[in-house]
Amino acid sequence: MIGTGYVGLVSGTCFAEIGNQVVCCDIDNSKIKKLNNGVIPIYEPGLEEMVRRNKEAGRLTFTTDIPSAIQDAEIIYIAVGTPMTITGEADLRYVIGVAESIGEHLNSYKVIVNKSTVPVGTGRMVQRLIRENLRDSSIVFDVVSNPEFLREGSALSDCMNMERAVIGATSDKAAQIIADLHEPFDTDLLITDLESAEMIKYASNCFLATKISYINAIANVCERVGADVTSVAKGMGMDSRIGSRFLQAGIGYGGSCFPKDTHALAYIADSVGYNFRLLKSVIAANDAQKLVVVNKLEQVLGDLKGRTIAILGLAFKPNTDDMRDAPSLQIIPALLRQGASLKCYDPIALSEARVHFGDRVLYTEDVEECLLNADAAVILTEWDQVKLLDLAKAKQLMSAPIIVDGRNCFSLELMRESGFIYHSIGRPVVTVEDN
Ligand SMILES: NC(=O)c1ccc[n+]([C@@H]2O[C@H](COP(=O)([O-])OP(=O)(O)OC[C@H]3O[C@@H](n4cnc5c(N)ncnc54)[C@H](O)[C@@H]3O)[C@@H](O)[C@H]2O)c1
Repeated sequence: MIGTGYVGLVSGTCFAEIGNQVVCCDIDNSKIKKLNNGVIPIYEPGLEEMVRRNKEAGRLTFTTDIPSAIQDAEIIYIAVGTPMTITGEADLRYVIGVAESIGEHLNSYKVIVNKSTVPVGTGRMVQRLIRENLRDSSIVFDVVSNPEFLREGSALSDCMNMERAVIGATSDKAAQIIADLHEPFDTDLLITDLESAEMIKYASNCFLATKISYINAIANVCERVGADVTSVAKGMGMDSRIGSRFLQAGIGYGGSCFPKDTHALAYIADSVGYNFRLLKSVIAANDAQKLVVVNKLEQVLGDLKGRTIAILGLAFKPNTDDMRDAPSLQIIPALLRQGASLKCYDPIALSEARVHFGDRVLYTEDVEECLLNADAAVILTEWDQVKLLDLAKAKQLMSAPIIVDGRNCFSLELMRESGFIYHSIGRPVVTVEDN
């Protein structure tokens, strides 16, 4: 497994769990050192235990010696990052580096599998780069695309109970090898060509992003016509053609995948002469949605200058410390620009948050401490610690009982009973008169 980030570490560990011999490689020395010392560089529920178990069983090792790992393997997975460039396209420099290195060190037939999310055509490019760098041009190999669909926060169960595996292959032999590898997962397989497999990943993520932007747009209309988006979404989701998932209105999607993958697909489409207007609108709607909580806060507090705001949650979603493209990265600077002073709570993402906000905000790992003397609280991540908040205590701690909830964590009824002024997404406002 070349690249031991989120995807490489989780999939490598799961492949070991089902009985394979796995070597996870990375160029990041400190990451590999940590892993060899039993320290997991990311937060993912259950991962530490599964890594430990497989290390002890001798099925999982970590190394920076990538040439040896390439030579010893039968199957080589590429799971390096493909971040977004400033123009919106996927940055393939890490994939290119790995492909060249595989070419240089290839010593026998192997299947090279791309797990990174990459533009259509990358598999063919990897094939070409390996061929160009081969020391012995008689060595044969196959390239496969096997995109990853895990979600951070539930990555282990997503991987162990994967709903489907997409295998895009250039030969039947390689497709069969990767299909056999997935057999213990007992999952549905789709065997297709390289290009279609690469496209399936982008098409899936962009569809989910579209669903999120759609329900957020519906929420914005609901607010203006007096409807409640939670009921609307429930009613929509009861139609099996629509489905109930990804219909939770909020402050938009973030994280390491949807933002970059939507931009990348729009860029791919542009580059082949198709103006993907729908996807561009999804991106614009998501950018705007992140700031609706700032407008709601202004609506209820007026001038934010000198106001103390408690920010509940910084990670882009619960159960991860990943802050890549988290809505908090847009919302917090917007509030700071207006002169608000911010106290920020997150159970696990604080060290990551310090990298972004330095000493411009206060940090706390205690949700009640965060609420103490706050003029209002803004919920950005639906952590259990937030959803299970003792509202009576919270009301006592705060200077004013005002919550702006970007994740619809509480029922309107509960907020009415608890005596809060409560602004959420796509639902009627709970005012003092309602209490
Ligand atoms: N994070 C997710 O939830 C998720 C889900 C599905 C797909 N993906 C896709 O999977 C890919 C990896 O994502 P990630 O979140 O794991 O990235 P990441 O940034 O967490 O990890 C990438 C790792 O690759 C390493 N690396 C870079 N160049 C290398 C090289 N030449 N040799 C060895 N290691 C090298 C980096 O040091 C880093 O540890 C991306 O294309 C991403 O879009 C991510």
